[in-house]
Amino acid sequence: MRLIPITAADEDLAVRLECDHAMMLHIGGPRPEADVRAAHKRRFDLMEQGKAHMYKIVAEDHAEVLGAIGMWKIAWKGPQTYEMGWFVLPEHQGKGVAAETARLIIWQALSNPKVRCVHAYSGVTNAVSNAIARKIGESERWAQIRQARPRQC
Ligand SMILES: CC(C)(COP(=O)(O)OP(=O)(O)OC[C@H]1O[C@@H](n2cnc3c(N)ncnc32)[C@H](O)[C@@H]1OP(=O)(O)O)[C@@H](O)C(=O)NCCC(=O)NCCS
Repeated sequence: MRLIPITAADEDLAVRLECDHAMMLHIGGPRPEADVRAAHKRRFDLMEQGKAHMYKIVAEDHAEVLGAIGMWKIAWKGPQTYEMGWFVLPEHQGKGVAAETARLIIWQALSNPKVRCVHAYSGVTNAVSNAIARKIGESERWAQIRQARPRQC
């Protein structure tokens, strides 16, 4: 799997993910399309400032998009703390895409001295997301993975 930084051309992917009832079931429900399009643009500003690292997940051997994953700075426990979130399109779920790409992101972050902690705030009802957090938390000792109160990521 490859992680490719998102671009303006990925706005429709963001709409497909974030306006969908099933995809947003555990993260606050579907968002209005206009909000998602505006948020997509704000993500570029954050990426240019080095405050966010947002990627689309693409298959290794062809151009099919499998989902999206990213991490962004949060104002908690100092300036080097990040939160991460993940989306995998329904037809690609259950094949290890989220767990594998979460590990890829963490390995990238390991070489970035500006990142000290990465947290995943999976809602308590989001069993799949919590399973991923446990998996990467167990395998990457440096990553402080917290399964915390229900909230949006
Ligand atoms: C969460 C999400 C990204 C998972 O993607 P995925 O690629 O299907 O996940 P993976 O295949 O890598 O891993 C799923 C793990 O959850 C486990 N799992 C699945 N259903 C489960 C359940 N009901 N209870 C506990 N664990 C479960 C699987 O067994 C698997 O672990 P394993 O590999 O040890 O068997 C995907 O379901 C999604 O996009 N959901 C909507 C968006 C979302 O909620 N994102 C998270 C918040 S940002």
